[in-house]
Amino acid sequence: MKVSIIGAGSVGASCAEYVAIKSIANHVVLLDIKKGLAEGKTLDIYQSATLLSYDTKVVGVTNDYQATENSDVVVITSGIPRKPGMSREELIGINAGIVDSVAQQILKFSPKTIFIVVSNPMDTMTFLTLKKTGLPKDRVIGMGGILDSARFKTYLSLALGVPSSEIQGMVIGGHGDTTMIPLARLATYNGIPVSTLLSVEKLNQVVSNTMVGGATLTTLLGTSAWYAPGASAAYLVDSILGDFKRLLPCSVLLDGEYGLDNLCIGVPCIIGGKGLESIIEIDLDSNEQEKLIQSAHKVQQMNQSLDSIL
Ligand code: NAI
Ligand code: 2OP
Repeated sequence: MKVSIIGAGSVGASCAEYVAIKSIANHVVLLDIKKGLAEGKTLDIYQSATLLSYDTKVVGVTNDYQATENSDVVVITSGIPRKPGMSREELIGINAGIVDSVAQQILKFSPKTIFIVVSNPMDTMTFLTLKKTGLPKDRVIGMGGILDSARFKTYLSLALGVPSSEIQGMVIGGHGDTTMIPLARLATYNGIPVSTLLSVEKLNQVVSNTMVGGATLTTLLGTSAWYAPGASAAYLVDSILGDFKRLLPCSVLLDGEYGLDNLCIGVPCIIGGKGLESIIEIDLDSNEQEKLIQSAHKVQQMNQSLDSIL
């Protein structure tokens, strides 16, 4: 199994490292436009192989798309990240051009690949990739909800003082500070609703911490986060290559599901060997459904800035 990761910056390199360490694929290609960056990072990663006991071949290249030939999955992380005070939406102009050209070049060498889009604003970049490549919706998947859900579960575990591995929860909607929807009503601690264990105030705090989870890290780090984003992208790669059919919130094209169409936004998806295998329509209450409609409206407004290039 071969995975190519475009963009050897913080998130791309972190994703490559997790894919290798967890032996998710046997061949990883990391590609960047900046000379030497991918080569250097992969050599560094590969030098950990004997210490961490993995056999995955990790190769770095500068803009050499031939090296990505016959990739089963391609992760697009190329683009610019947020700086403190910047929204994901402000990245749209620069990243749209980068994501579009990367997707076209990839398809020349891997016409059957499945794309995972990470670059922000992720829902809009996923929609762009889908429209510009003309690929079917099962082969273009945006990653944001997996990360937001990981943050939600982390904040819940901290509030409850229990291991995060025992928390179940999901964040749907757009991957933005004001568009994501942590489904607090459905979150559980080993099957027990967290709403019965935390006060309304504490639960609301968890929800708002989750929604600004990315911005909090951007303020602390001076740029956007990479460990959990890289791990989230690698987890999605694993779900596809392992054909695990995991239920994950991903940004995918909606064709009437949840009463929405012609946009990519985070909804619960079954992810397996074919990529997006199905969308699960859960029963949202009226408040959650209204939030999803509002979130979709904001994502659609953002998608309008693509009008000139679509
Ligand atoms: P970074 O700046 O560390 O890395 C981006 C890399 O892309 C750079 O090395 C740059 O040289 C490369 N690049 C730029 N144009 C390219 C091109 N045409 N071809 C190949 N490589 C190119 O940024 P970082 O922190 O890795 O973030 C990457 C993107 O992922 C950003 O847009 C960021 O906002 C987004 N992000 C999305 C998350 C999500 O959950 N969807 C989470 C975290 C970051
Ligand atoms: C994050 O959520 C900025 O999308 C990036 O960390």
